[in-house]
Amino acid sequence: SLQPVGIHDLAIATTHYVLDHATLARHQGVEVNKYHYGIGQEGMSVPAADEDIVTLAATAAAPILQRHGTTGLRTVLLATETGVDQSKAAGLYLHPLLGLPASTRVVEIKQACYSGTAALQFAAGLIAREPEERVLVIATDIARYDFDTAAEATQGAAAAAILVAADPAIAEIEPVSGVYSADIMDFWRPNYRATAVVDGKLSITAYLDAVEQAFADYRRRGGHDLGQFAAFCYHQPFTKMAYKAHRHLLESQGRPATTSAVETAVGRTTDYNRVVGNSYTASLYLALAALLDQPEDFTGRPIALLSYGSGCVAEFLSARPVSGYRDQLRTDANRDAISNRKPIDYDHYRALRNAQDPTDGGHHVVPDETSGPFRLSALTEHQRIYEKTL
Ligand code: CAA
Repeated sequence: SLQPVGIHDLAIATTHYVLDHATLARHQGVEVNKYHYGIGQEGMSVPAADEDIVTLAATAAAPILQRHGTTGLRTVLLATETGVDQSKAAGLYLHPLLGLPASTRVVEIKQACYSGTAALQFAAGLIAREPEERVLVIATDIARYDFDTAAEATQGAAAAAILVAADPAIAEIEPVSGVYSADIMDFWRPNYRATAVVDGKLSITAYLDAVEQAFADYRRRGGHDLGQFAAFCYHQPFTKMAYKAHRHLLESQGRPATTSAVETAVGRTTDYNRVVGNSYTASLYLALAALLDQPEDFTGRPIALLSYGSGCVAEFLSARPVSGYRDQLRTDANRDAISNRKPIDYDHYRALRNAQDPTDGGHHVVPDETSGPFRLSALTEHQRIYEKTL
């Protein structure tokens, strides 16, 4: 039998600020219950001027390296759709911030919200070949849509860092997975835009269809029956989407999609995303962290993971928590990262979002705002300068 490979450590990070949906609804003249109940969102993380996907990634990964060191670490895969450079991999900025070893391959991976899962699977493949190696996977994103659109309420930001290893201390990634892809224009972001272009209704039906197709592939390859999973973690562009997805999956399999069946499957996975908002590649792993941080013991029970990235690619896979996993969790740190955020008012949020990176190559000092351990301190000669504040 194969040596198990999977999640040896998992940590999340989010931004300095939070915009709550009551504030957004008031500004937009929208009934707040549309957000609280209709899409299942109460807050969205907003980055400070000196935060970006690199500082979020460093903040998520630092405690993992503190706990495990860099032994065996030869690969860093950073998944994002909020790239800060068209050429250089964002993970390279982590070298001085985190003390990464020079004997490391570092690359950036993109396919909308799906690429964190691609990174996880590529990592598992590397480790299957060389079980002594470890791979650091980081999913980090900032979701931005145009102001005063329906999609504005589905913004957010976070990073999830995962150390992938053989004989993992948290959860095995089971070998069977189901995949699906198609060329569809439901959501995309051309190089000249800072905000995504989205066909909201199409994106929802494309997601639902992809769930059904990825699960069908998973079953053809001998994966578990639906009834065998202890819970289902879905990509959560907004938490109501997990409910829609699970209802669709049950119905497509001819199962009763009762309110209680759906709630039991997904209800425990939404605590973090409900207040963080869409973190694109990281969202699924915030759902998993939220589930594992529940008091319930999931040892040995398969948990379904459904990853969806517009455009589109989906994958249905499963994680099986291993004995002793609860001792490895970062429940308090995860909750603190979320509860330590500072509420931001609408005008401040708008001003932060309107500020654009200077393009003149001059020396620009970035205002010191974040209380996080890493910050973007300057933009100079077209370079991003980061610093460690601890
Ligand atoms: N009280 C309670 N519920 C209310 C309400 C109120 N006062 N007013 C409205 N609602 C409900 C609606 O009935 C609806 O519920 P159902 O979906 O269950 O029917 C829900 O609130 C949303 O209302 P609308 O359908 O009218 O919402 P909208 O069209 O204005 O916007 C959206 C919703 C399309 C998701 C929009 O936010 C959007 O475009 N978001 C970005 C795209 C996105 O997140 N797509 C998800 C799938 S793609 C993906 O997953 C990849 C990714 O990360 C982007």
